Amino acid sequence: MKIRVLGSAAGGGFPQWNCNCANCRGVRAGQAGLQRRTQSSIAVSADGAKWTLVNASPDILQQFQQFAGTWPTEGLRGCGIESVVLVDAQIDHTTGLYMLREKGSPWPIWTTDPVFEDLTRGNPILHLLEHYCGVDRQPVPLDGRSFHPQGSASLDWRAMPLLSAAPPYSPHRGNPVPGDNIGLTVIDPASGKRVFYAPGLAEVDDAVFDAMSSADCVMVDGTFWTDDEMISLGLSKKRARDIGHLAQSGPGGMIEQLSRLPRHVRRVLIHINNTNPILDESSAERAALTAAGIEVAYDGMEIAL
Ligand code: MLT
Ligand code: MN
Ligand code: ZN
Repeated sequence: MKIRVLGSAAGGGFPQWNCNCANCRGVRAGQAGLQRRTQSSIAVSADGAKWTLVNASPDILQQFQQFAGTWPTEGLRGCGIESVVLVDAQIDHTTGLYMLREKGSPWPIWTTDPVFEDLTRGNPILHLLEHYCGVDRQPVPLDGRSFHPQGSASLDWRAMPLLSAAPPYSPHRGNPVPGDNIGLTVIDPASGKRVFYAPGLAEVDDAVFDAMSSADCVMVDGTFWTDDEMISLGLSKKRARDIGHLAQSGPGGMIEQLSRLPRHVRRVLIHINNTNPILDESSAERAALTAAGIEVAYDGMEIAL
């Protein structure tokens, strides 16, 4: 199984268009140790030839241009990506679907029922696409049954409901239902290897910890370093956990959770907000992650399992 990180940043990307924080200012100025990042998306493949897209970022066209695995190989039109799986209905995970409208046949799009509701009501993008390529909606089961999205159908995909947050436009924003956000386990039956992917994760409960412990690699929420990161910068009144993200530092934080995993599990943070000090490779926070054996995903990162 191959995993390609198309976009490693959280919503807004890095730098964010209107942000003048130290990281965003630094990366614009070409400061050493800071790398630009596009918004949250990965692609998964069994064979490295055909792929399943997980989340459709607003930066998708740039991401596809930089990843030859998506380029057409035969005929006049084509794409290495054969279907799309969505982990939630957030803007940074769905807006790229508009950019895929030129497809000549309906896109297989795998979502839970609550995400399908949000994407046909509050943000009716899946209805809009009916006027272009069309949508072949496929249900993501929440009971642990495996599903087989096109492009990597020989892999076993499993979803679990997560505590995170539905988008601000969703009727479920303050009233979460199972399936607003999911974590994905993808298993390669050929090797027995598995990856766990959860870019939005507010709480590591027992079920999530079990899924993480039985994976060979976890790619999990790296949005914020501190729970009050946006508050202390004066950018928001909300804590990380209020908007569905478990911060890395502090008691019960992601670093502590990852330290409980079996030693062999590869630990990767993904969906990193532009304010997060770990983006600066020379920061003390980044050094703390490295010392804890935790990697920070970057655009173009490839993981083979
Ligand atoms: C999130 O991950 O909390 C959202 O994607 C934020 C956003 O809308 O950009
Ligand atoms: Mn996001
Ligand atoms: Zn910033």
